Amino acid sequence: MKVLGISAHYHDSAAALVIDGVPACAVQEERLSRRKNDAAFPLGAIEWCLDHAGLQPGDLDAVVFYERSMRKFDRILTSALRTFPHSWRSFPHAIKNSLGEKVWVRGIISSQLGVPRSKILFTGHHQSHAAAGFLTAPTSRAAILTADGVGEWATLTVGQGERCPGRGANITLHREIRYPHSLGMLYSTFTAFLGFAVNEDEYKVMGLAAYGRPTMTDAVRKLIRRTPDGAFALDMKYFEYQTTARQSYSPRFVGLFGRPRNPYEPIDLETADGRRYADCAASVQAVLEDTLVDITRELHRETGLPDLCLSGGVALNGVANARILAESGFERVFVPSAPGDAGCALGAALYTDRVFLGNPDRDVPDHPFWGPAVDSRELAQAAREDDQVVEELDDAVLIERIADQLAAGRIVGWMDGASEFGPRALGHRSILAAPHSREMRDRLNRDIKYREEFRPFAPVAPTEAADRYFDLPPGGSRLARFMSGVFPVRPEWRSRLAAITHVDGSARLQTLDRGMAPRLYQLLEAYGRRTGIPVLLNTSFNVAGEPIVNRALEGYSTFRRCGIDVLVAGSTLVTKRASPAHRVKEEVA
Ligand SMILES: [Fe+2]
Repeated sequence: MKVLGISAHYHDSAAALVIDGVPACAVQEERLSRRKNDAAFPLGAIEWCLDHAGLQPGDLDAVVFYERSMRKFDRILTSALRTFPHSWRSFPHAIKNSLGEKVWVRGIISSQLGVPRSKILFTGHHQSHAAAGFLTAPTSRAAILTADGVGEWATLTVGQGERCPGRGANITLHREIRYPHSLGMLYSTFTAFLGFAVNEDEYKVMGLAAYGRPTMTDAVRKLIRRTPDGAFALDMKYFEYQTTARQSYSPRFVGLFGRPRNPYEPIDLETADGRRYADCAASVQAVLEDTLVDITRELHRETGLPDLCLSGGVALNGVANARILAESGFERVFVPSAPGDAGCALGAALYTDRVFLGNPDRDVPDHPFWGPAVDSRELAQAAREDDQVVEELDDAVLIERIADQLAAGRIVGWMDGASEFGPRALGHRSILAAPHSREMRDRLNRDIKYREEFRPFAPVAPTEAADRYFDLPPGGSRLARFMSGVFPVRPEWRSRLAAITHVDGSARLQTLDRGMAPRLYQLLEAYGRRTGIPVLLNTSFNVAGEPIVNRALEGYSTFRRCGIDVLVAGSTLVTKRASPAHRVKEEVA
């Protein structure tokens, strides 16, 4: 049975194909269209999925859209009427959006793909998130928490999933919190207040939080009131997102937290304003964590299960995830590689297969590599035409050579096999570098990523060795599999892992099993033989403002435009001719 899942029209459109119960492929539209956070109907992603599997649209048994458009329309209409006349400005915009695309999704899918309307199904937005979390995790029974900005009405759900051998799976979402009360919107409101892009830069707030102190948690708690049933409610006096698309916080919010930051104003921690912004970030982060810990503790008590599946955009908050693991009572916490709305395409397809259609449950391979494969011949051709040094090497030679280059302080663009599904580079579309010095971090920020210096880089380490360098709680290594948790770097290693240690001593670690990305694993081993530390800095292969590279040509174009010294795709190695002599003497003890 062939089920195509689609997410679209909000942010991060994607398509995913499930064949006989197992994902065949999945990709975000942005990786193909090269428009970051592309929200358009994902025709490119759908076409690629069908091509990859050798299918025509007529071969599909079902096409499923990741949310129920009419319910979303109902929410937009009801919210607008409730807040009228304050909402009169946002209403035409919201209605145009909904009428234009969201509500008529069945017609769009039917006409774009040429599939009969009877084959087009809809899952609930949070059902899709829940399925993306639970049905991709190696567990047969688990509690489920989904949390995001908003889907149709729900913004947070708790429930339980159970695989039923031979007959699909059950996913029951017992309770939900509804719009406008939303942890995601609370966090996004601070994202906007702090001058960052909503739905995109929430992780910058988390990064900035490490520089601040949670001195304003009392003020944040005025915005979010805990209710006797263990849920929460926002005090809407402090928000405006429910009435206008132009501004998410109200004058009262500004009264509590001071002047909002202009996006073009640098954050200078030497100034009172700079420290206030960092303290705001630390305070909302602390309240978000406390709230999630309380909710998951209760969920653990209620279900008595050892496993928790977390999904939705809020599950991208690795600091909160680590606290949930440490404090909720759950022994294992699973976060999929794509917990946000893109992942809903895969979640919707799996939900349809297991729950709607009741097809036999199947194990989903435990890796994130569902996208297009890199073509090393394409790289070789482009680089030769551009008069660069191109070599074709056996793996054993290539890996030793790259380890030498990394140990010599060179920066490596690393493309290998199928691209990751989700926002993080997990070893197939990565920029790799030595993790030891601050100079390397600054060089990457300056010459490659062109980004704010308060943002840390992430490390990757073999699962077996990670505990030596990072303070992992039980279950931490699982949470770090898709880089979903932030953990302390052990104090004795911080000075030797300075490029990946955040100001508060933490790191967003990826633990790597040999089987998940064998070539990167071998590279870590080879690097460890040279330096004594089998840890590398691993950041996504893109420059600021661009999606992660997909094809070899995009990798090559990025390599030519920034300070990457060496580029690898499969067995092809390209060394930059005009490479400036960036040689950083690494202090590796
Ligand atoms: Fe969502």
